[in-house]
Amino acid sequence: MTFISRIVGSGSYLPEKVVTNDDLSKKVETTDEWITSRTGIKRRHIAAEGETTSDLALKAARKAMQDAGVSADEIDLIVVGTTTPDRTFPATAVTIQAKLGVIHGAAFDVQAVCSGFVYAMSVVDGFIKAGQAKTALVIGAETMSRLLDWEDRATCVLFGDGAGAVVIKAVELKNGMKNHPHGILSTHIHSDGRYEELLYTDGGPSSTGDAGHLRMEGKEVFKHAVTNLAEVVVEALEKNGLSASDIDWLVPHQANKRIIDSTAKKLKMPREKVILTIEDHANTSAASIPLALDAARRDGRIKDGDLILMEAMGGGLTWGAVLVRW
Ligand SMILES: CC(C)(COP(=O)(O)OP(=O)(O)OC[C@H]1O[C@@H](n2cnc3c(N)ncnc32)[C@H](O)[C@@H]1OP(=O)(O)O)[C@@H](O)C(=O)NCCC(=O)NCCS
Repeated sequence: MTFISRIVGSGSYLPEKVVTNDDLSKKVETTDEWITSRTGIKRRHIAAEGETTSDLALKAARKAMQDAGVSADEIDLIVVGTTTPDRTFPATAVTIQAKLGVIHGAAFDVQAVCSGFVYAMSVVDGFIKAGQAKTALVIGAETMSRLLDWEDRATCVLFGDGAGAVVIKAVELKNGMKNHPHGILSTHIHSDGRYEELLYTDGGPSSTGDAGHLRMEGKEVFKHAVTNLAEVVVEALEKNGLSASDIDWLVPHQANKRIIDSTAKKLKMPREKVILTIEDHANTSAASIPLALDAARRDGRIKDGDLILMEAMGGGLTWGAVLVRW
């Protein structure tokens, strides 16, 4: 039997507290004008004290399961893309598994920073195609606020907290569907560890014993993002014999509006076809794609049969794309 991974539900959750650019300008030397013009960000959500990544993820997961009409006992795989786990171990995915009351199957985290959701989708697609999972929860969840140096204006203005989730089912690919299947058409993941020093945390369990703070060479990361994302979207389209004009929606990682605009321009995609949430969410790392996806589904933009291209780049460097027929 051949299986395809079909997204059957989505959900998302954002913490209640909203911090605007003006709020930040009272803490560090910055302005709303600087942040907006360089990044497109206006505000971000920040987790409350004691609110963890698994708390956000659980709320997003429950909404996705409700949307899909799937109960906990059907879930046999939970993969969480996160770089801000509740604990160094166990994986945040098993905490979520327990909170959902799932007592079978497997749960683990994928660490690819801002590409975490794309990597998690790729992993789950592999499991489904291999016949090793039937109903999976794929979650991107982050409390990036906990990794930030709130005195470093070059990074603290860029990130936010949140979670997004999708439920994926294994659907048997029958002959009649092969020409126009609904589901994940292909996934493409890459990494290049030579660029580790461009985006990293200056701590970790085996180096300093604490989580450290996020450090970034913003300009360099920007250049790599523009190049790598342009390449990987072409790779995804070529693999499927499709062209940019076939895409209904570009759902990019929301790191910087100028990076998104550059990818859309290279694809000659009009702005109306690009799902943008960066203004309200900032960069929520692995959560940004499922947050944007869920927003566009719930407001009716994404419809059955639409061709959706997701792409992301993050620390590592890591980058990748997922092409889906909804
Ligand atoms: C971070 C980023 C917004 C900076 O934009 P930029 O166009 O490279 O920055 P500019 O060269 O225009 O400005 C740099 C100057 O602004 C200053 N600056 C940095 N942060 C600032 C802030 N929040 N407010 C005001 N000034 C700031 C710097 O100190 C620097 O000043 P200097 O020239 O006197 O040294 C941009 O490089 C970026 O988005 N990079 C990619 C980041 C990213 O997406 N990371 C995540 C990938 S997953």
